[in-house]
Amino acid sequence: MDPVRVGILGLGTVGGGTVSLLRRNAEPLERRLGRSLEVTRVAVKDPSKPRPVELDGIDVGTDAESICTDPEIDIVIELVGGVDNAEPLVRKALEHGKPVVTANKALLAERGNELFRFAGEKGVDLAFEAAVAGGIPIIKALREGLAGNRIESVHAIANGTANYMLSRMRTEGMEFEDALKEAQDLGYAELDPTFDVDGIDAAHKLALVAAVAFGAPINYQALHIEGIRSITREDILYAGELGYRIKLLAITKHGPDGGIELRVHPALVPEDTMLASVEGVFNAVQVVGDAVGPTLYYGPGAGADPTASAVVGDLVDVARTLGASPEYRVPYLGFRADGMQEPRWAHV
Ligand code: NDP
Ligand code: HSE
Repeated sequence: MDPVRVGILGLGTVGGGTVSLLRRNAEPLERRLGRSLEVTRVAVKDPSKPRPVELDGIDVGTDAESICTDPEIDIVIELVGGVDNAEPLVRKALEHGKPVVTANKALLAERGNELFRFAGEKGVDLAFEAAVAGGIPIIKALREGLAGNRIESVHAIANGTANYMLSRMRTEGMEFEDALKEAQDLGYAELDPTFDVDGIDAAHKLALVAAVAFGAPINYQALHIEGIRSITREDILYAGELGYRIKLLAITKHGPDGGIELRVHPALVPEDTMLASVEGVFNAVQVVGDAVGPTLYYGPGAGADPTASAVVGDLVDVARTLGASPEYRVPYLGFRADGMQEPRWAHV
């Protein structure tokens, strides 16, 4: 069978990791899919930049838009980041009938409702597992594994950079700025790291999680957001003396008045709980369903390989159903478009 031809927009931490993973695991991927996955074109801003990944046989250029319209490309992976930067590219690919895989939570939190509607009209997929909690397949867990449940609550450590910083400040006594610099050097932070430290990135992810958990339109505006900027080493030390760890939590649940709460803020988590033991770049998502009860998903929340794992997982899903009629595919937010309902959002 012909290979599935893939175009990638962006070759930074995640794009580089994705090309490298597709090469490394080409053989098991072909056995899973029955076709090979071949990256034929990549777009970057600066093609002269050295890349830590082998690119032989791949056409590397700067014209991202032409990948989105190229009849020789079957699937587009968007990894350029940003909202205004990425939206026209994602739209262009969808408009040309190409499924899109993205890790861009900012884009989907802010423009996702319109983009999912547009993808639906075009009958193509818009897959986003890598946008939430890095390598943890939490979107698939909520959408498929837990589909029989009414979701009661989600408590998540959903930003790897912030959790890494809080861990380094606690265990190494590091200063806030030094810990952030380390997370940036490791490729965990957003291009604008205020997204990580001010809770915005965790909020983008929570907006997507809540949509999938509750079958609600994405509503980033309903979130209460507070980051870790004001947390000091002394706060972390005193919390430890009282038997707590400070964690940046992203929480959505039914509030006392029945409305759905959406909030991101630092919280004191008792040291003997599983969430408290999540350290470094690791994330964890605790989901309570009415039938299953409490469940916990744990894994690396950022970085090249873990995020590439989620991107390639989506690529396999999308490639499996290329050209299949939309009724036979799982809707990407887990609910049919006419099954989505705006809940009452609680004021936190
Ligand atoms: P990087 O900044 O490392 O990479 C961005 C890439 O996009 C670069 O290769 C850059 O080119 C390229 N680029 C930017 N604008 C354009 C454009 N207009 N046309 C062509 N290429 C362009 O970002 P990351 O890989 O860290 O992140 C990518 C996405 O993945 C973001 O949405 C981020 O939020 C998300 N994400 C990141 C994770 C991580 O751990 N880093 C984890 C989960 C999601 P050049 O290299 O030439 O500058
Ligand atoms: N900057 C993000 C984080 C990347 O640190 O969690 C993964 O989404």
